[in-house]
Amino acid sequence: MTEVPNRTQVVIIGGGPAGSLLSYMLHLEGIESVVLELFSKEHVLSRVRAGVIEHGSARILRELGLGDRMDEEGFVHEGVNLAFAGEMMRVDFDALVGKQVVIYGQTQLQKDLYDAIEDAGVLLLDESGNAQLHDLDTAPTVTFEREGRSHTISCDYVVGCDGVRSSMRDYVPAEGRREFERLYPFVWVGVLSPTPPVNDELIYANHPDGFALCSMRNENLSRYYVQGAAEDSPDDWPDERFWEALETRLPDGPAQRLVTAPTLETIVTPLRSWVMEPMRHERLFLAGDAAHVVPPTGAKGLNLAISDVVYLARAMTEFYSSGSTRKLDGYSDTALARVWKAVRFSWWMTQTMHRFPGMSDDFDRRLQETELEYLFQSENAQKSLAENYVGLAI
Ligand code: FAD
Ligand code: PHB
Repeated sequence: MTEVPNRTQVVIIGGGPAGSLLSYMLHLEGIESVVLELFSKEHVLSRVRAGVIEHGSARILRELGLGDRMDEEGFVHEGVNLAFAGEMMRVDFDALVGKQVVIYGQTQLQKDLYDAIEDAGVLLLDESGNAQLHDLDTAPTVTFEREGRSHTISCDYVVGCDGVRSSMRDYVPAEGRREFERLYPFVWVGVLSPTPPVNDELIYANHPDGFALCSMRNENLSRYYVQGAAEDSPDDWPDERFWEALETRLPDGPAQRLVTAPTLETIVTPLRSWVMEPMRHERLFLAGDAAHVVPPTGAKGLNLAISDVVYLARAMTEFYSSGSTRKLDGYSDTALARVWKAVRFSWWMTQTMHRFPGMSDDFDRRLQETELEYLFQSENAQKSLAENYVGLAI
C-alpha cells in the first residue's frame, strides 16, 4: 500500500497533461506536490486525444528535458492545408511566421510525463476517488479515498486540473464567477486507422456535406475526423459510412490516395466553447479543460493546458522563492488573456470550416465562401491563420 503524506505544498487534482506537467515543473523548482488521479495510469494512457503541439509548447517541453521522444518520433509540420470547392491551399507556417508545429499524440506526451514524474519521485496517486476540498480560505486540506481507505492531505494550494467534467470548479462560488458558452450544432466523428496518412501534412476540408480533417500519428497510423449530426453516436458511423463520407469531402488528389482499413476505434466528440472566469478562488487555482474548453478545430486544448500550467508554475516559483503573491494574484488574468485568443481562433476555424444546419445558399454560406476565398488569395489573412495555429506567445 502506498504511503500517503499528511502534508505537501501543492495538491493537484487530475493527472492529465495539465496536472502531470505542473507537478513536474514544480518538482524542477524544488516545490513538492501530490497528484490525485481518478483513473488508473493505464486508463489515462489509453485515451486517444490531441495531436498538434504548438511551436511554443514544443520549445517549453524541450527546455524541461521532455522533448527527446517528441523530437525523435513526432513529425515537424511547416504548414497546413485547407480544402474548399475542390481546391487545396497550403498555409506555409515557415515562410509566413518562421515557426512550425509538431504532430505528436497526446497519449505519447502523457507517457513521457508519467515517466518523467516517476523518475523524479513525484507522488502520483492514481485511482484516487471522492476528492473534496476544505478550508480553502485559510489552510486547505484535501480528503480522498484510495485502496479502500480515507486520506487527508493539508497543503498551501490546490490546483484543479480535472478536465472537462471538473468537480473542482464547483468550489468557485456561483456569485463570484461567470461562465461563457457556445454550443455547436454538430459533432466530430473520429477514427484511428492502421493505414498510411493520406497526406504528409494535415488537411482541413470544408465541403457542402460537412467538415473533414486528415491527421496522423505515425507512418502507419492515421487519425481522421468527419462532421456528424449533433445526435450521432459511434454506432451511426460503421466504417463503410465513415470512409465514404471522408473520401467525398476530400479534394481529388488526397481522395484518390486514401487507404482504408477496418478502424481501430470510432469516437464522437461534441464541439463546444466554454470559459469560466476567474480561474481562481482563494487557495484553489484551475488549469486546462477544468477552466475552459475549445472545439478541437483549432487544435488548442492541450496547448492551453500547457500554457496555463507554465504561468502557474512561474507564479508558484515566485511565491516559494520570495514570498510574493504578485504572479499568483495575476494568474487568472494572465491565463485568460491567452485563453480568449485561442477561444476566438477555435471559434473562427469552426465557423469557417463547418456546415451549419440550415445553411443553404443563404447569407451565412456566402460569407463562409467569401472568408475562404479571401484566405486563399490574401497572404495577410494566411499570416494571421499561421500565427494563431502555431500558437501565440506563452
Ligand atoms: P484532461 O486531459 O481531461 O485530464 C484531466 C484528468 O483529470 C483526467 O486524467 C481525469 O481522469 C482526471 N480527473 C477528472 N476528475 C477527477 C477527480 N474528481 N479527481 C481526480 N482526477 C480527476 N488539443 C490540442 O491542443 N490539439 C489537438 O489537436 C486536440 N485534438 C483533440 C481531439 C479530440 C478528439 C479531443 C477529445 C480533444 C482534443 N484536444 C486537442 C483537447 C485536449 O485533448 C484537451 O484539451 C487536454 O486533454 C486537456 O488537458 P487537461 O489535463 O486539462 O485535461
Ligand atoms: C488530431 O490529430 O487528433 C487533431 C489534429 C488537429 C486538430 C484536432 C485533432 O485540429
